[in-house]
Amino acid sequence: MIKNWQYLDEYHQERRQILEIVDRVISSGRLILGPEVSAFEEAFAAYCGVAHGVGVNSGTDALFLALKALGIGPGDEVITVANTAVPTVAAIRAAGALPVFVDVEEDTFLMDVSQLEAAITGKTTCIIPVHLYGQPVDMEPLMHIARKRGLYVVEDCAQAAGAEYQQKKVGGFGDIGAFSFYPTKVLGGYGDGGMSITDSEALYEKLRGLRFYGMKQASYAEEEGYNSRLDEIQAALLLHRLERLDDSVRKRQEIAQHYTQGLSNVGDIAVPLVRSGRTHQFYTYTIRTKHRDALMRYLMEHEIEGRINYPTPIHLMRGYDFLSVENGKLPRTEKLAQEILSLPLYPRLAQKDGEQVIHCVKRFFEKGAGS
Ligand SMILES: Cc1ncc(COP(=O)(O)O)c(C=O)c1O
Repeated sequence: MIKNWQYLDEYHQERRQILEIVDRVISSGRLILGPEVSAFEEAFAAYCGVAHGVGVNSGTDALFLALKALGIGPGDEVITVANTAVPTVAAIRAAGALPVFVDVEEDTFLMDVSQLEAAITGKTTCIIPVHLYGQPVDMEPLMHIARKRGLYVVEDCAQAAGAEYQQKKVGGFGDIGAFSFYPTKVLGGYGDGGMSITDSEALYEKLRGLRFYGMKQASYAEEEGYNSRLDEIQAALLLHRLERLDDSVRKRQEIAQHYTQGLSNVGDIAVPLVRSGRTHQFYTYTIRTKHRDALMRYLMEHEIEGRINYPTPIHLMRGYDFLSVENGKLPRTEKLAQEILSLPLYPRLAQKDGEQVIHCVKRFFEKGAGS
């Protein structure tokens, strides 16, 4: 089976180093909020070109605590997209705010920034652009609107660590950038993890308090807080992975280029579009075709795992019925959910497996299966 994603190869390749890191950290006797977390926070923030990083226990919490740090809560509206992973919206709800959706661009799958002005109301306080699949949203006009209208911006960078827009890395445009280190991510750990990054000293201090029961010193809460800590073992492993991030993204980009060359004129396939002035980290390689379901079945029959990121837009999920956003309200998002398919892609995907995927997709269309 050619899997959509897997980490075992990588683990076997680096097993000795990984076990040495785990052993070193456990032997140090310091497992929570110690030197490893500080070192990784500094290194990752520097990598992103931002002053501060605060390690937390997940990407969801990186978003949630970002909203809390900005004082966003009940009564506030936060504009985002429904073409994203559930946690983007779960974090808004956890903060007590109301998500408001704009549609996405059909060719990049990303927030259609031209719809923002019309979605802003007197209750809007924040915009969360999602750099979906690894490509940045159109941040220049977005930031222009946000600054003009006095809105905060929290970037959901969960899928796009290191992606650049006009030669600047994501996470450094808005007030806070939120990252996930979930194992499948471009920068993935061996468990849960996340980070909020910011240039603001005040937000940095606020985020540090919020992740640690609202405490600045032991056993005294300055404010109401939470427990959301990145642990020392994950931080040490993530620092090790960070040093290899650019290399592994380069491999992702090479595989993506190979797919694009092989699939550009096949059937009705639309290959991913990378807008000029942006880099794409290829967290996923997501194509569009009207024959998505049949193609996915065909790939499965040939031992190739396709995935759909994401089959149901959030406003159409039962868990978000209460938002009362009707089917038909976000036509491009709804249409894409029927047509998108992510092909296997991870840094160590063998070239012959990539070729096999291209070959199989071509055969599906040649056989007329897609007609
Ligand atoms: C776009 C997006 N936002 C937020 C998250 C949340 O990250 P985590 O799973 O680390 O909580 C994820 C990952 O699942 C994601 O893909």
